[in-house]
Amino acid sequence: MSQLLVRGRSRLDGEVMVQGAKNSVLPILAATLLTGDQVKLRGCPRLRDVDASIRILQGLGCNASWEADGLVVDTAGLRGCAVSDMLMREMRSSAIFLGAILARCGRAELSYPGGCELGPRPIDLHLAGLRDLGAEIDDTGGHLHCRASHLRGTNLVLSLPSVGATENLMLAACGAEGVTSIANAAREPEIVDLQNFLNACGAKVSGAGTSTITVEGGQRLHGCDYAVMPDRIAAATYLCAVASAGGRAFLRGAREAHLATVTALLREAGCVITSDAAGIVCVCEKRLKAVRPVRTAPYPGFPTDAQAVLMAALLRSRGATVFEENIFENRYRHVDELIRMGADIQVSGRVAVVSGTDTLYGAAVRCTDLRGGAALCVAALAAEGESRIMRIGHIDRGYENLERDLSTLGADIVRVETEQIEG
Ligand code: EPZ
Repeated sequence: MSQLLVRGRSRLDGEVMVQGAKNSVLPILAATLLTGDQVKLRGCPRLRDVDASIRILQGLGCNASWEADGLVVDTAGLRGCAVSDMLMREMRSSAIFLGAILARCGRAELSYPGGCELGPRPIDLHLAGLRDLGAEIDDTGGHLHCRASHLRGTNLVLSLPSVGATENLMLAACGAEGVTSIANAAREPEIVDLQNFLNACGAKVSGAGTSTITVEGGQRLHGCDYAVMPDRIAAATYLCAVASAGGRAFLRGAREAHLATVTALLREAGCVITSDAAGIVCVCEKRLKAVRPVRTAPYPGFPTDAQAVLMAALLRSRGATVFEENIFENRYRHVDELIRMGADIQVSGRVAVVSGTDTLYGAAVRCTDLRGGAALCVAALAAEGESRIMRIGHIDRGYENLERDLSTLGADIVRVETEQIEG
């Protein structure tokens, strides 16, 4: 088994290139199905979730191959419309393929994506919107049997600004006849990136980044050469790592506009953060102080994906910080592991209160999910002694090489292979 060994209390000082955005490239990989052509995705991150998406594309008869500067996908050879149960279970967000398969093939066979570590991950908004576009979906028995001989553009309204539902419906609408509007759409930067990719392929999509997106369907799409946006959550993770360990870091390629709520709180905590077109510089020379309540919300609110890593950065701050997790039901699973390191955290429902302590202690801890695992690394950087971080497969879903990036910044962190049973 792979594990990470971290010796804490090393100040960070260095520069790191921020990887391409996982949550942008996953819907873009689904969107390649709409082109029936070759697409080059520069800066595509090498992640377990990307590997799972590649297997889904290959299972549909498409080709994908890595090059030095990115991934080349060719969907001309598409010959199927089914995604296996195993692949659907491997990556919960594989539901994002439904809209694109329907638009390209007129039918789709998927199983319900399972829940995940964060709790149930319903797709009712995805299915309702696809039905409004004219799809017939039989979702009995845990399987989705979908038919859409003719998708027709219409006015859609989302009951909540779901990222995945917005993306799925954008893709299906590209294959619909006429114009589709999506009201109460999610406004995340990754959705703007998806719009930019689709338009580079000849689509006519507008409004991404606002609450109303418009798609003029029926365009003949073609391949393109596209550079994926930088990963704002990876950037937030590295900012929190500097805040936790102290020191200085330059995050090349990071765009502060994508994580303004994160940098605002880190500045309030005492970090000195500056940014320009090249990236973000974060300097943290003193002990952090507690900040105003952190409430997760749809973009442009505080990102739920940064909740765990910010919590980890504040474990030794002066005072107490209140967190409120409003997006997912079960996103405090990292708390028990942080408490093993000496953290003082009280959880009650959606609220967690973090009271800063003087010292954190290295410990053997287990990743519970992707961002919770990253939080353990952030906390370990501030801990006395060595931490052993297990079940790091969770981390590899979303970070190309977290230990390489953190050690580039000066952290004492290595990946080891061990026969040790992780329990
Ligand atoms: C995307 O998940 C991201 N994943 C998540 O990142 C991120 O946390 C989330 O958006 C919120 O920003 C990808 O982009 C691959 P949602 P998604 O649909 O699309 C409920 C990470 O760590 N909901 O906006 O699944 C849902 O249960 C991951 O990188 C419905 O009720 O998020 C949740 O409570 C974790 N019905 C809320 O909406 C639906 O049909 C937000 O979900 C869809 C969603």
